[in-house]
Formats: sequence, C-alpha cells, structure tokens
Amino acid sequence: MCGIIGYLGKKDALPILEKGLERLDYRGYDSAGVSVLDGGSFNTVKKPGRMDNLKEALKQTSMPGSLGLGHTRWATHGEVNEVNAHPHWDCRQEIALVHNGIIENYRPLKEMLIKQGHVFVSETDTEVIAHLIESYYEGDLEQAVLKALPQLQGSYALMVASKKEPDKIIAARMLSPLILGIAKDGYYLASDATALVDEAALVIYLEDGEVAVIRKQGFEIKDFKGLIKSKTTSALSWSGPAVDKKGFAHFMLKEIYEQPEVIKKNIEIYTEKDTVDFSIDQRFFQDIDRITIVACGTAYHAGLLAEYMIEEIAGIPVTVDTSSEFRYRNFVPEAKTLFVCISQSGETADTLAGLRLAKEFGFKTLAMVNVENSTIAREADKVIYTNAGPEIGVASTKAYLSQIIVLQLLALKLTHLYRKQLPGFYYRYFTELKKIPLYLEKILAEAPVIESLAEELQKASNFLYLGRGINYPNALEGALKLKEISYIHAEGYAGGEMKHGPIALIDKELPVIAISPAGRVRDKMLSNMLEVKARQGKIVGIITEGDSDLMQACYKTIPVPFAEEHLSTMLVPLPLQLLAYYIAAKKGCDVDKPRNLAKSVTVE
Ligand code: M6R
Repeated sequence: MCGIIGYLGKKDALPILEKGLERLDYRGYDSAGVSVLDGGSFNTVKKPGRMDNLKEALKQTSMPGSLGLGHTRWATHGEVNEVNAHPHWDCRQEIALVHNGIIENYRPLKEMLIKQGHVFVSETDTEVIAHLIESYYEGDLEQAVLKALPQLQGSYALMVASKKEPDKIIAARMLSPLILGIAKDGYYLASDATALVDEAALVIYLEDGEVAVIRKQGFEIKDFKGLIKSKTTSALSWSGPAVDKKGFAHFMLKEIYEQPEVIKKNIEIYTEKDTVDFSIDQRFFQDIDRITIVACGTAYHAGLLAEYMIEEIAGIPVTVDTSSEFRYRNFVPEAKTLFVCISQSGETADTLAGLRLAKEFGFKTLAMVNVENSTIAREADKVIYTNAGPEIGVASTKAYLSQIIVLQLLALKLTHLYRKQLPGFYYRYFTELKKIPLYLEKILAEAPVIESLAEELQKASNFLYLGRGINYPNALEGALKLKEISYIHAEGYAGGEMKHGPIALIDKELPVIAISPAGRVRDKMLSNMLEVKARQGKIVGIITEGDSDLMQACYKTIPVPFAEEHLSTMLVPLPLQLLAYYIAAKKGCDVDKPRNLAKSVTVE
C-alpha cells in the first residue's frame, strides 16, 4: 500500500523523488521520506504526516546527488512517526532501503539479527531487510540482496542502495508491484506507473521473483538466483495532464465530472453497430455454465450489479464474492466456469490471490481492470480495460462507472451468445445506452442542488441507504462513498430487508437515502419508503424525474432522467457521489486522502 520511488541518472534525484512521491502518496500518506546519495554519504529527511510536511522540511535543506530513494507510507508495523518512516537503514547507516509490502516472518528474523548484534531503531518489519542485507554484505550489494531475498516471507517491492557502491540500485519484487522506467536521463523505479508519467517513455513491469540491477550505464533484470532474464519494454499510455486537478477543488470532484466522457469512451471502444466487440476471440466466451465474480470494495459492488444484469438478460448463473472471502472459503469449483475479477488498480492483493486460485481451479480467467499492464491485467487469460484513465481520489467514482458500463457490455455480449432476444432488443438497448452521457451531464448540472442538500445533512451522524433489485448494490456503494470520505456511519440495505431489523433505527433524525428510479421494483420501494415516512423518517429519494407519488413520500428528492432499469444503474451513482463529496468537503475532511485508507490495497 506504500508508494516507493527510486532514481539513478544524470539529473538531481531530489526533485524527481518529490514529484514522484506527490503522485504516489494516494497509496499511503502516513509519512514520507527521501534519501539522496551525495558522493560518499546519504542525506535523509523523513517526516510523519502528509507529503506537505516533507516538502516543507526539504525547503530547509539542500540534497544534491543523482541517486535517490523515496517512500510514502501506509503504516502496518509501528505507529506513525519519524523513526518508523522509510528509508530504513542497516546498523552503520551504509545501506538505505525502501519497501512496500509486509514481511510476515520479520519477528524470527529480527530475533536472529539481534542475537548477531544488530541494533534496531524502528518498530517496522522493513528494517529487518536492511540488517539482513548488511549481514551478507561483503562488498557486493547485489550478492547480499540475492542472499537475503530467499529468507523473506510475505510481500515486497523494495529498492536498496549502498554508499559503498554509489552507482547502483538493486530492486526486487515479490507480490507487490514494481516498475522500471527507462528515460534518456537515467532509470526510474516506482511502485506504479502514475509516478513515471512524463518521466519515462518506456517501462518494464517486473514479475514476482525478479531483481533489477540498475547502474548509470545500464540495467539487468535477473531472477533470484542471479540469472539474467530477457524482458520486453512497453510504452506508457497515460499522459501528464490526466493526473492534474484541472482547476477542481479535489481529484474526486474532477473524476466525478469526467464520467460522461468515460461512458462515451467505452461505448466507442467496445461497440460497433449494436454489437459488442472486446477484441477477444469469441471462443473464449463459449461453453460457460457459470460465472464467478471476485472483487473488493467498490469493484465488488460493480460485481453485484453484474450478477443482476447477466443472470437476467444472458441467463447464466453468477456468484459474486469479496476477494478476501473467496480466497479462504472452501469454494467448490465447477467445470466450465468463467472467472471474472474486477479491479481499478489491478494490484489489489486479495483479488490477485483470487485470480491465482481460479487459475489453479483451471477456470478461464477474465480481468476487468483500469490500470494497463497491472499485475492482474497481465496474469489473467484475457483482460478488458475499463478506460477510466488515472483515478487519483482514493474514493472510487469514475472507475466504478467504467466497471458498470463494461459489465453491461459483457452482459450483452453473453446474451448474444447464450440467449435469443426479441427482435429490436439490441437496437433499443444501444440507442438508450448512447443517451447515458447526456443524462449524466444533466445530473451534473444539478450539482448546486445536491450541494445545498449536503449543507442540510452534514450534521447527521448516521445515514441509511436503501435500494432494491438491480439498484441494491448502488445503495451499498452510496453508503461506502459517504462513510469512507466523511467518516459518517452509513449502511446500505435492501429495501425489502428493512422490516427484519433496520427499521428500528428510523426516527426523525436519520437521513434515509432511498434509491428508487423507474423499474420493476419501484412500487416495492415506494411501500418501503412509506413505512419509513410513517415513522417520521427523513427520506431523500433518488427518483426518476416527474415521479410525483415518490416525491410526496420524500423530504427531498434528487431526480434523474428516465432510463431503462439496467441503464439506471449508471445514473444513480452520480448523485450519491456528489452528496458524499459535498458532505465530506463541508465537514473539512481530506476528500482525496481519507484517513487510514490508501488507493491501492497491495497487502492482505
Ligand atoms: O483497485 P481495486 O478496484 O481492486 O480496489 C478495490 C477497493 O479497494 C476499492 O474499490 C475501494 O473500495 C474504493 N477505493 C472505495 O471507494
């Protein structure tokens, strides 16, 4: 979950590390630190808290040198303070190291190293790696790293430098992402591509069990035995402006506003004359008896939506699991299963583990991923990119919508292969689908109304989100959005389940966000809403414009344009996101970097 960056080249390392860490700090922002090697010694500055604290401290110091390591931390072992911030050191402060991941056997290693006389200063698991490398160091950093790596259990992407070998960085990967960027001025290492945008035209994605040996005059990729491997380079397709706020107060708001474009882009890329084309051989989608979807958080909610869509229109049974449950429950595999994993980052540890398990079961595996060439994208049999562009805000918005549209298209593709539909079905579906970007623009134009509603509701300490049928997962997502960025407790519930418990919560203080666009369950939702109203509940309805019965049941409404039930799932998230955003912003919360969270969950 931490962000790591390294540079070795012709330029001064510090500005590169600073820029890289600013782009990476969405991976974790408990502390940040840099070390730059100047001739024979390292200069290091580390600060707890946000990147701004480090930047402020760096203003007071000069750090020349063209080899540097940087780190932004999401704390796992040891509290948030300067000592536990990376880079970490060996006893003699000759070896500097940054690490993303968790060393699971750090305790026995630490005990062994203490017995050998090593002195530890931090509470981190990472520090053992520096001392372990020191214990093997006999003048050759690469050899020392190669001896240390087999002793480490857990996950790591790490970068190491020694002041005795000032022209070298050694980096290694096991279960945590690591990328080498190749530029005219030198070599960049980073935990994800965002840090390399505009810096390195070409990149190499390291795989588990690989080591990069970087020198100013060249690099080699090796396995853990030190044998050279040949690797292919790829071009980075994202460009700089995409990772800027473009005048919006927060990345989250900018990303909310990008959603009409995201939908348009996916329609453009994947549809042609009322058919879906993922550029994947038709045979891959044939001979499927069941679909198993695995994902985490917001992506899991997209998976739940897909269950409704695929079962209803394609008629194929679907099961959906959170990745962390899937990997440890005794799932009973069935032949002819298509395994689909959904992930914005393509690096989520549990989802990756789920994918690897699915491969062991012999399933066909399909990844739906936003970040190109991420580990999940590379390891699945086939990948469908969701084309949302870089999502920087920790709270997922445009990535969620991109997952929904692509899953809709998958449902259509499967329908075409597995079920006959009435004449005109596809024409009608695609005609309506193409209107969604326009409808989203219409909802965005109502943002000031949602903002003033947020003003009224921001003091509530609990929220309930209700939905039914295909929009039930959107109730879960609405509650997740609010709680993660505003720290207000929120629960998502199926409207029909109200009477089985949560109705006890209703009083005149509790805002109930009732998701009830036109569709088969609209009348059922109306009954649930009236039950809430009868108990003086404060209902905010997300309803189809002009639905006067529902308006009467609500304290306030946020209308969305009429859309066919399946397509309404792409309209509903937008008001939910805006409501959560404005409430959090008005409460003064750090919207883009909510406390305790990180964008990419690369540890279990
Ligand atoms: O990168 P992924 O889509 O695999 O991430 C999964 C979740 O961590 C993520 O969706 C998380 O729940 C969102 N950031 C919440 O807004």
